[in-house]
Amino acid sequence: SNDLVTPLNIISNELSKGSNSLADAHLNPTIIDLVKTYIAHEIGKISPIDSPRVYDAINWSSNLNDGDLVIPVPQFREKSIPPQELASQLANKFPKSEYFSGIIAKGPFLQFFINPKFLFENIIKDIANKRQNYGSRKLPSEQKVIVEFSSPNIAKPFHAGHLRSTIIGGFISNLYETMGWDVIRMNYLGDWGKQFGLLAVGYERYGDECLLEMDPINHLFDVYVKINRDMEKETTDIPYDESVNGQAKNFFKKMESGDQDALNLWGKFRSLSIKRYVDTYARLNIKYDIYSGESQVPKDKMDNALELFREKKLLEESKGATLLDLTKFNKKLGKTVIQKSDGTTLYLTRDVGAAVDRYEKYKFDKMIYVIASQQDLHTKQLFEILNQLGFDWASHLQHINFGMVKGMSTRKGTVVFLDNILEEAKEKVLSVMQKDAAKYSLIENPEKVADLIGVSAVMIQDMQSKRINNYKFEWSRMLSFEGDTGPYLQYAHSRLHSIAEAHPTLDTTKVNFNILTEPEAVVLIRLLAQYPDVLKAAMKTLEPCTIVTYLFKVAHQVSSCYNVLWVAGQPDDVAAARLALYNAARQVLHNGMRLLGLTPVNRM
Ligand code: ARG
Repeated sequence: SNDLVTPLNIISNELSKGSNSLADAHLNPTIIDLVKTYIAHEIGKISPIDSPRVYDAINWSSNLNDGDLVIPVPQFREKSIPPQELASQLANKFPKSEYFSGIIAKGPFLQFFINPKFLFENIIKDIANKRQNYGSRKLPSEQKVIVEFSSPNIAKPFHAGHLRSTIIGGFISNLYETMGWDVIRMNYLGDWGKQFGLLAVGYERYGDECLLEMDPINHLFDVYVKINRDMEKETTDIPYDESVNGQAKNFFKKMESGDQDALNLWGKFRSLSIKRYVDTYARLNIKYDIYSGESQVPKDKMDNALELFREKKLLEESKGATLLDLTKFNKKLGKTVIQKSDGTTLYLTRDVGAAVDRYEKYKFDKMIYVIASQQDLHTKQLFEILNQLGFDWASHLQHINFGMVKGMSTRKGTVVFLDNILEEAKEKVLSVMQKDAAKYSLIENPEKVADLIGVSAVMIQDMQSKRINNYKFEWSRMLSFEGDTGPYLQYAHSRLHSIAEAHPTLDTTKVNFNILTEPEAVVLIRLLAQYPDVLKAAMKTLEPCTIVTYLFKVAHQVSSCYNVLWVAGQPDDVAAARLALYNAARQVLHNGMRLLGLTPVNRM
C-alpha cells in the first residue's frame, strides 16, 4: 500500500500500527476501508459526530447512480439540525480532493462518488498484487468454526437435501476461511441405527465382496433395496428371531453392545463408502477434515445429558420410552422421545451427545449446521436442549437451513450418491461440446472440462436464489450457455482468459490509466472495488446468492465492455490499459467462483 497517495498512506500506516479506533476488526484494511476511514476522519473534523460512528454508517450504495459509498444521515440522530440540512452542509464542507469526483447531498443521503482514476490506479494494482487473495481477510485473533454439512446416510439415497447441504456448506466453509477463520469441515454421516442391522442381514443374502470393493455405494444401496422388499413381503407367521425385521434388530443390538464381528462388518461398509465419498466430494473441491457420524457419538456424553435432565425433573416415562418435555421452555418444541423402550438411542439424543463431544474436542467459537428446513424443529429442539443443559456455547450454534428441490432425478432414476448427478451433468455437457467439432478438437482434456462445467451448472442453479426458496431441478435450463447459468459464468471467465493469452507481450504492470475513460470501464472498476465488501455482506447472511448475483453483474459488465474496449488491433498503451482492467475482472470472477466451490476453466 506504499503506492497510495497521501493522506491515505498516512491512514494506512496508522492502521497498521494498530491505532485504528474505527470499526473494522481486521488486520489488513482494503483500499475501500482506507477511503471509508478517510471519510470518517474528515466528517469527524467538520461535524459533531465522532469518526467511529461515521465509519459504521458508511455503506455501499445499492445503485451506482447514487454514488459508490453513501451515508444515510438520519442514522446520526442529530437533534440540533434536520438531516437534509446536515447532509448538504457536510457535502459543502467536505474537503475537495483527488479521491472523489463528486460528493452530493441527495435528500438526507450523503453520496460519495469515488474518482474513477483513483479506482483504476489502486484497485487494479491491488488485485494484480493480491491475486487469489483479493478479498481475503485476516483476523486479529484465532477464531474456530465447525461447519457440518452434507451428512448423507450410508446405504440410503442421497436426496436433494444432501445435495443442497453439500453445496451450501462447501460455500460457507470457503467463505469463513477467506474471512480469516480456522475452519473445520465436518461430515456427520448417517451411519448408525437399525438400518445397519437390516443391511447386514441383506448382505448375507445378496452381498458380493467384489462389488462391494468396486462400487460400495451403489452395491450397498442395491442390497438395502432388496432386503427391504423381502421384509415387506414377509408374513406374520414367521418367528420373530427368524424374520428379517427381528434379525435386523438383533444385529443392531449387537452393534450397540460392541460385538466385534458385527462392528467389523459395519466398519467395512463405512470405510469403503467413505473412501468413495472422498473422491466425489473432491469434484466439488470439498475436502473434509473429519468424517464423523452418528456412530461416533460417545455413549457417556448421551448418558450424562439424560442424567442432567432426570435431575431437573424434565423426563417422563411413556410406554417404556423416555420423553423430554420441552414445552416448559417453548410451547412449539413439544415433548420428544429421547430414549426408546429397548434402550437404544435416537437421532436427537445422538445429536446432543455429538455437540457436547465436539465442543470438548475442538473448543469451537462457532458451529454451523447446514440442514434442510424440514429439520427446523429438530434443530430448535437440539439447541434448546443444549441451552437447558447450561452450556454457554449453545448460543454459538447456528442452523443454516434451505428449501426443497423438486424433480431431482437422473436417467437411471434414483440418486444414490452425488456421483450419479455429477456424471450425468458431465455427459450432458460433453454432448453439447461435441456438437462443435472444430472447437472441440482444440480442447486439451474435454472430459475434464465437461465435468467442471457440469458441476458449475448444478451448483449455480442451487445457489442462484435465497437458500430458503424451493426450486425445480431442470437439466436443460441449468446447462444452457445463455442466461445466468454456471456454463455462462465459465464462458465469461474463459473468454477473459483467452484475451490475456492472445496478448502475451503486453506489459500490464506499467499502465497509463488516464486512457480508461469510457463509462463501461468506469462501471466495471467500481464493481471490482466492491468485491471485498460483497464477501463481508455474505458473511452476515451466509447466502451464496449474494456472491452469485454479484458475479453475474461483473460478467454482464465485462460483456458490455467488449463492445467498446477492444484490445486486439489497438496501440500498445491503449491495449495494455484495457487488458489490465480485463485481467482484474478475470481475477475477481476467478476468486468468486473458487469461493462458491467451482473450478474456473480457461478454455471451453
Ligand atoms: N443424516 C441426516 C439426514 O440425512 C442429516 C444429518 C444432519 N446433521 C445433524 N447433526 N443432525 O437426514
